[in-house]
Amino acid sequence: MMVAFSTVAVAAFAALVLSAPTKHEKRQAPAGVPDYVLKYAPVVYLHGQDPYLPSDFQTHLLHTTARVNYNVVEAPSPLDLNNLDALGIDVYLTSNDDITTNPGWIKGIKPDGNGKTDNGVTSAVIVNDKGNGNVDAFYMHFYSYNWGGLVLGMKDLNFGNHVGDWEHLMIRFSNGIPQYVWYSQHANGQAFKYSILEKHTDGLRPIAYSGNGSHALYAIGGTHDHTIPNFNLPGGFLEDHTERGVLWDPLQSSYYYKYDGNSNSFSTYDEATPTGYLRFEGRWGDQEYPTSDKRQVKIFGQAKFASGPTGPRDKQLNRNNVCPENGKECILRGILLPRSRDLEDKIFEGDVVQR
Ligand SMILES: *[C@@H]1O[C@H](CO)[C@@H](O)[C@H](O)[C@H]1NC(C)=O
Repeated sequence: MMVAFSTVAVAAFAALVLSAPTKHEKRQAPAGVPDYVLKYAPVVYLHGQDPYLPSDFQTHLLHTTARVNYNVVEAPSPLDLNNLDALGIDVYLTSNDDITTNPGWIKGIKPDGNGKTDNGVTSAVIVNDKGNGNVDAFYMHFYSYNWGGLVLGMKDLNFGNHVGDWEHLMIRFSNGIPQYVWYSQHANGQAFKYSILEKHTDGLRPIAYSGNGSHALYAIGGTHDHTIPNFNLPGGFLEDHTERGVLWDPLQSSYYYKYDGNSNSFSTYDEATPTGYLRFEGRWGDQEYPTSDKRQVKIFGQAKFASGPTGPRDKQLNRNNVCPENGKECILRGILLPRSRDLEDKIFEGDVVQR
């Protein structure tokens, strides 16, 4: 009996030791990526009803054409992640399909049971080592389509749809210890102390809840509201709906980079990873359709179909504060709060304001 028990114990111990490297391999991170950048990487809960899921960068390029002022311009063919930086700042990667027909490729890849977007690279991790143990790790997420939601929940008041969508979380580390996490939400976002965030089953990786369609990232589930800049309709606001829908672990389908703030340049940890697309300064989607286009609706300056966004290089990768510079106060929350118009500028006990 005694012997049998210890054999089981030894086998269990061996299994534990052997399972460690396998788990690491699954993340496919090249050697050199700081282990804490992987260990504390956020996981995302996508909304269960969101048809527009994380998308493969290269697939997006296959279904878009470089256009300037709606006209096709000369471009490398085929476009790929190494040659995208041959395109100018005025280029819009414009859908080859009429986007209102909901072509399959804009729906991205549904994460499997392990949270992996199979056969696609849908995320980029960018590490900015500022020296003295100060490291900002950016976790960039890509979607081929952003559905802007409904103003006041009315089905005819749908604004802010666009082709291409880059969202990000940023963790500020000090000597390998996570301090704060930035959650991007539309033109702004929220910052929280790492210690108060809801964590994944391992107790380490913070959870981010993705807005249905908009993919804005929130620290807590449920409904969040946000005003639309310059939208002066009385009560004109949008809600983001989040829930524990589909688990996505972006790390399982990610490229990894080092970013140098002094030279504003990217480098890789291995030879196989492309970088050209990170230097592309143009837009990842269609240009806002003119009002002469029958798909377009424009009310009080808000377009139903907005222009696609710029890429990761435009996310202030060398920021001083945890928040990007956007004219707003940078409040590092010490308590979990939903995004809400009423709470946005309030300071609570435990909050830190960065100036
Ligand atoms: C989620 O988004 C889809 C379309 O993008 C919409 O049909 C559905 O009603 C939305 N659900 C919620 C709860 O917002």
